[in-house]
Amino acid sequence: MTLKLAVLASGNGSNAQAMLDLAAKGVLDADIRLVLCNRPGAGVLDRAARAGIPSLCLDHTSFPSREVFDQAMIAAIRDAGADTVALAGFMRLLTPGFIRAFPQRILNIHPALLPAFPGTHGIEDALAWGVTLAGCTVHFVDEIMDHGEVIIQAAVPVRTDEPEEVFRNRIHALEHRIYPQALQWLAKGRLSVHERRVYLTPADVAPAVVDPQTLIWPPLEEGF
Ligand code: GRF
Repeated sequence: MTLKLAVLASGNGSNAQAMLDLAAKGVLDADIRLVLCNRPGAGVLDRAARAGIPSLCLDHTSFPSREVFDQAMIAAIRDAGADTVALAGFMRLLTPGFIRAFPQRILNIHPALLPAFPGTHGIEDALAWGVTLAGCTVHFVDEIMDHGEVIIQAAVPVRTDEPEEVFRNRIHALEHRIYPQALQWLAKGRLSVHERRVYLTPADVAPAVVDPQTLIWPPLEEGF
């Protein structure tokens, strides 16, 4: 079934862009009903405008509380006819009221191999720790930050000779592939959850190694 999707973002919006592009191409079966942003002037708003997708900016600083802000977002998402939410660099903690409004229909992308390095500086924290493998994770969202069930992860080596900027770009490029893929599985009703484990049916047989330095599991399908 086509996803009726609201994309929530606070900044640049490169993940939102990947969704817009793949939805426009017909690879991602999603009708992006709304791009919702909490920061006036954020790049993601321009991206939505360029793609001709409705957008709305609700500045969280003009709301009296987190709860009231989240209720306004719920109303906007419902008004747009969306029933699924993709957090794409949305830099606000969500209230339990928001999470419960879209049960098992909120996804997030995190730039680390969860449960390692949750929080707002996943890439920096992983590098500062000195890990030799890093990556990114798409997961269901529950009431604890960066905690919900893992859908897909991509892992890459951390090269000591590589500038941080290049490494960061490598992680982002992978995000732009695994996030739309996870959404596509959701669209097709192929994800189920049991005791923290996410099951993908039918299971995939494609190769998991994208290139000699990138491992993605479950494997990406064609187009992603
Ligand atoms: C990404 O690194 C994502 O993992 C994190 O926020 C960043 C958003 O980047 N949650 P962009 O706005 O999609 O370019």
